[in-house]
Amino acid sequence: MSISDQSLFPQTPVESKEHEDHYNKICEDYNHLMETLPKGNGWRAKHLYNYNGFWISPKYIKANLLLHAYFKPQPTDIFLASFMKSGTTWLKALIFSTLTRHLYSFSAHYLHHHGPQSTFPFLESECENFPITDFTHMSSPRLFATHFPRTLLPESMTSCKFVYICREPKDVLVSKWVFMNKIREKDLPPFSFDEAFDLFCEGVSNYGPFWEHVLSYWRASLESPEKILFLKYEEVKRQSEVVVRRLAAFMGIPFMAEEVEKGVVENIVKLCSFENLSNLEVNKKGVEKFGTVEVENREFFRKGEIGDWRNYLSDEMKQRIDGIIDEKFKGSGLIFGS
Ligand code: A3P
Repeated sequence: MSISDQSLFPQTPVESKEHEDHYNKICEDYNHLMETLPKGNGWRAKHLYNYNGFWISPKYIKANLLLHAYFKPQPTDIFLASFMKSGTTWLKALIFSTLTRHLYSFSAHYLHHHGPQSTFPFLESECENFPITDFTHMSSPRLFATHFPRTLLPESMTSCKFVYICREPKDVLVSKWVFMNKIREKDLPPFSFDEAFDLFCEGVSNYGPFWEHVLSYWRASLESPEKILFLKYEEVKRQSEVVVRRLAAFMGIPFMAEEVEKGVVENIVKLCSFENLSNLEVNKKGVEKFGTVEVENREFFRKGEIGDWRNYLSDEMKQRIDGIIDEKFKGSGLIFGS
């Protein structure tokens, strides 16, 4: 089965009464837990809940419990982790086309007819319901994406390889506000940029605080650089070919000299560029399902620029958010810039 068939994977069979009892116990624990967690204003839905230090939607808190209980990582698994709106879609396309470069030609590529989100599973959606999806038929290395911070992942996953993509926080904020407004539940009142700004600065946004999320992977990448490739959206934009070569080497499939000469790296970069992907019919008209939520592919392609925050933030807002970011990242060695 090819990687592109992953969405067709069956659910893990419910093997026994014992299995079912175990699941019912998780549901009970989840219900009790939800009564105790602090609540904050949501961006897409009414509320987010603070779960072990992070603001998460109820369905993904449950997904996290199911992930811990049932997901069985394999040593060769590769995870793409990111804070929402940091370049996940782009990295999905780049990782997928790098890994499958021997399977597809650039004139008739999978990505010409399928949105990048479909290339490999988003763990949270796959673990939303019981029985969770059975990933055992996926070819190795299996690829998964997640927005969970490092500290919310099962210990068993932490020996696997991770690619983490981060982005300048002001651009993340703008991108997230626009995106969440598009998929916001229809019965909720409008969600202003001022409100989003205040919530973001307080750390309250899906998978936030932003700084805790980024730092969870940054610190782990300093400890185990061979296990975590830490990338910035801005460097992928400015040095796409260098990054694609690093990605390939990190995944254990470095480019051969002949491939480079034939222009394979260049072709991957062109194929996955914002200009190319955003103009494909599938990304203008197609829809992707994440559990129960449907999102139009075009919502994953807005501007794809560095520094669009300048069109949204006042000087005062810039100073406030930069002050928070400077303080939170002080001494970490991680610097943002746009
Ligand atoms: P903007 O809203 O600033 O345009 P994610 O994939 O994590 O949801 O992030 C979405 C952001 O990445 C959006 O940013 C989107 O336009 C941008 N993006 C999507 N595909 C891209 C690509 N191929 N190249 C550069 N940026 C891309």
